[in-house]
Amino acid sequence: MYRPLIAAVCLALALPALGQVPATGQAPRAPKGIKVPPQQKPVSNAWLRDADSDADRFRKLEIYLRGFDQPMLEVGQRYLALYEAIKDRNWGLADYHWDKVKLAINGGLIKRPGRTANAEAMFLDAAWPEMDKAIKSKDEQRIREQFGAVRGTCLACHAAEKVPFMNESPIFRNTAEFPR
Ligand code: HEC
Repeated sequence: MYRPLIAAVCLALALPALGQVPATGQAPRAPKGIKVPPQQKPVSNAWLRDADSDADRFRKLEIYLRGFDQPMLEVGQRYLALYEAIKDRNWGLADYHWDKVKLAINGGLIKRPGRTANAEAMFLDAAWPEMDKAIKSKDEQRIREQFGAVRGTCLACHAAEKVPFMNESPIFRNTAEFPR
């Protein structure tokens, strides 16, 4: 007597595996909140393939990949992870996150080249290599001091790039010093 139930459960489990998502019953349409290029074909889950031209595909990608905010979100997360790694004296992990911070900022600069001058002068050619050397030295005192210099550079660039309100936030407040 459980057979229909078992069959329904099996079908529900199998559908996603087959790549079939149950239809919502609502016609797909472009969002109102974002100016994606208009197109001839109906919009679909094949959001790049259904575009009319490569120019429109690239425009969709540009919108989707965002600007400097998304890499900065990652930088913020990795900056906190670096702080924790230093507290744990886990220099391998500290080195790992520090490399990814550089990657994330450079990736952001590909998208927002207007920020390159400050990013390089203040951070990538200055605070970044100093911290990198400190981590590789495994000298705890030097690393802790250098972290303070890094924090100062984050704050300075936010002021220079006209987003000083970024600095009044827990991420920087809670990393002002290390516990004794
Ligand atoms: C080029 C100078 C520059 C440097 C260096 C920089 N930032 Fe930023 N940061 C910005 C800008 C500009 C924004 C705002 C981005 C936007 O408006 O799209 C930002 C935004 C942020 C945000 C908010 C992201 C969000 O949308 O939630 C965080 C967090 C952040 N930065 C952390 C850091 C940390 C931590 C460092 C240092 C390790 C750092 N930033 C270094 C320029 C910089």
